Amino acid sequence: MAELVPVDPFDIIVFGATGDLALRKLIPALFHRWCDGQISEDSRIICASREEMEREAFQTLAATHINPGEGQRADRWREFAEKLDYLALDAAGNNSGWSKLADTLSGDAQKIRLYYLALPPSIYGQMCAALARHGLNSPRSRIVLEKPIGSNFHTAREINDRVGAVFPEDGIFRIDHYLGKETVQNLLILRFANHLFEPLWNSNGIDHVQVTVAESLGAGQRADYYDRSGALRDMVQNHLLQLLCLVAMEPPASLDPDAVRTEKLKVLRALRRIDPHNIAQDVVRAQYHEGVVSGESVTGYSDEVGHDSRTETFVGIRAHIDNWRWAGVPFYLRTGKRMSARRSEIIIQFKDIPHDIVGAGHNHPNRLVIRLQPDEGVKLMLVTKDPGPGGLRLRYVPLNLSYAEHFDQGYPDAYERLLMAVVRGNLSLFMRRDEVETAWRWIDGIIDAWDQGQTQLYGYPAGTDGPTQSALMLAREDREWFDAHHS
Ligand code: BG6
Repeated sequence: MAELVPVDPFDIIVFGATGDLALRKLIPALFHRWCDGQISEDSRIICASREEMEREAFQTLAATHINPGEGQRADRWREFAEKLDYLALDAAGNNSGWSKLADTLSGDAQKIRLYYLALPPSIYGQMCAALARHGLNSPRSRIVLEKPIGSNFHTAREINDRVGAVFPEDGIFRIDHYLGKETVQNLLILRFANHLFEPLWNSNGIDHVQVTVAESLGAGQRADYYDRSGALRDMVQNHLLQLLCLVAMEPPASLDPDAVRTEKLKVLRALRRIDPHNIAQDVVRAQYHEGVVSGESVTGYSDEVGHDSRTETFVGIRAHIDNWRWAGVPFYLRTGKRMSARRSEIIIQFKDIPHDIVGAGHNHPNRLVIRLQPDEGVKLMLVTKDPGPGGLRLRYVPLNLSYAEHFDQGYPDAYERLLMAVVRGNLSLFMRRDEVETAWRWIDGIIDAWDQGQTQLYGYPAGTDGPTQSALMLAREDREWFDAHHS
């Protein structure tokens, strides 16, 4: 069982409490931390949203997303539900909800306070202004913002300005929930707590890097948002670029939040801007049409959203980091919805052996496979001799660290870890303003080229690994996507 470090008493105010994120992720995350004894009795959970609703009705609504069942869990839920307060309140700020909130919070200005905006980013500025107007930005307040922070560099900067006018940067926690995942945090440990990899971790030892975040689900209930966003803004700007940073960054001097974030920022700054003239080779953009996913027929994206959409549901990118460590090493990124399976992994492909005496090298380079989800684990692919009575046969086999086999414990969901990190004031798992804006600048370069009509939108059948052009992007350089599952 992991050691639990209880956090100081806090008040959390969840704005947008009747929305999907709050009900599906945040309240369950708080409940689980409560069950594990990490949240003290004198902490408070205030749920706020525009809907007029009785407190009991909100507690019942929250329960439908928990399934407390019977027995001990149900008892724990009853205790926890008692802690859930509810307030109807409007961002425009003119109703009595704000005064009630101010009354509830008054007298405790030194207590840690979290304002979680589970709301569209377009109203972050307005919400912060309302908090300031009602004197609610007490010295120990922290504001938690969900991605996406804006939809391009300019909107991100505007949001950051407006939030920054009310809260200091060290009170702003910009969530990228990938940074809360157990296996993503382990990337830092794997790289910087082992001596083994670092000497090879550069263009002398590594041929290329692949980052895949594949989902089997479609746009689903968030189609409205997704159709305005697309895979590049929804996934690459944040999750994939954060993964790339953790793989490519220089060793920070310590785990101090600013030491880590400054190194990540340097990677983002060194990302080579995609040249609009080469965009067709460097970026593959596609949308799923009908197909079969896990044995079930599903409709195409445009049918799902109900109009002829040009939004990409898949994007594949060949990126370069222009610095000494990574000169000449391509980073291939891909993400998509309605792919063959849910699978997120990072493949570090090492260089071929310099001289092959046994026929082992080509097609069997060493690979480090970091499996983020599901079946979390780390595999190091090696060539070994196939044991036998005579003759020399070779086998390509994994040294396998499977989390499920190795660690006989579950581990918390990303949101549980992130919420506790906000209470502790640990900013390392959150994006700094300059990281977000620099990532947008790079993404904007791709979007500008798309807007100039220089990239085709390909199709791929739902339930596959994306369009053939994504495989071609690697094949042109005599490489292929490595599917660790079939190795
Ligand atoms: C979110 C995206 O940030 O991440 C979603 O907005 C996506 O579109 C989700 O489905 C994926 O997260 P996870 O944790 O399921 O890999």
